[in-house]
Amino acid sequence: MNQNDKDLNHSFGKQQVGSEQREHLIRKVFTGVAPRYDLMNDAMSFGIHRLWKRTLVKMAAPQAGQTLLDLAGGTGDVAIKMAGENRQLIIADPSIAMMQEGRKRHQIVSIATTGESLALADNSIDIVTLAFGARNMTIMQDGLAEILRVLKPGGKLLCLEFSSPHFWLEPFYDLYSRYVIPRLGAWISGQPEAYAYLIESIRQFPNQVNMKKILEETGYQCVSYRNLSFGIACIHIGQKPRG
Ligand SMILES: C[S@@+](CC[C@H](N)C(=O)[O-])C[C@H]1O[C@@H](n2cnc3c(N)ncnc32)[C@H](O)[C@@H]1O
Repeated sequence: MNQNDKDLNHSFGKQQVGSEQREHLIRKVFTGVAPRYDLMNDAMSFGIHRLWKRTLVKMAAPQAGQTLLDLAGGTGDVAIKMAGENRQLIIADPSIAMMQEGRKRHQIVSIATTGESLALADNSIDIVTLAFGARNMTIMQDGLAEILRVLKPGGKLLCLEFSSPHFWLEPFYDLYSRYVIPRLGAWISGQPEAYAYLIESIRQFPNQVNMKKILEETGYQCVSYRNLSFGIACIHIGQKPRG
């Protein structure tokens, strides 16, 4: 059992889970939450996730002629904001339920695939956005290496994730995520356990500095990050080496 698997044993009601079981359980989580996913995001974050996503897209600065991948794209909330004239845009996500929910709002090309084994050619993508998806990968480092493979030399990954808030905010954030979010999850989506998993996966996610280190160790260059809302969320940006 690897460290990822051990960490996840907290996340599914103390069950002991291995990688395959984890993947299956995560798939079940997103199938369950798909119909109310976007509404729940608004309720949980008081709509602030929209500002975070807008910042992500601004930092990505997509251009005409580029090929863009929104990995773990779910319902396409980020991809819709990346769309524009003369850009090729692809959503990739293993959850058919999440992508089908998105189909009600957009017609963006969507492929069912995990981040750890992308069905895309080497050096084919200019920009990858990964919003709230890194922590759901079975082995995140494999996913980050796979993104590096599909990026063109000089191409960028922008990863938006929950992170570690400033120390003064931590007690409030902790209470909110421990007690309020699972209740909201129960009330709005009827899926308290799914939201308990999502909160646990946030707790276990590497902080800003460690995530930067992981990206550098994977082979990304010029890695930097920008805190959002006092570190509740964070955007990491890294580039594929040119030569
Ligand atoms: C919290 S949602 C984020 C959706 C969207 N990016 C957004 O910000 O609204 C996480 C997404 O990660 C997807 N996911 C789960 N496991 C994954 C994996 N191994 N590789 C890529 N995506 C995965 C889920 O299906 C889900 O749609």
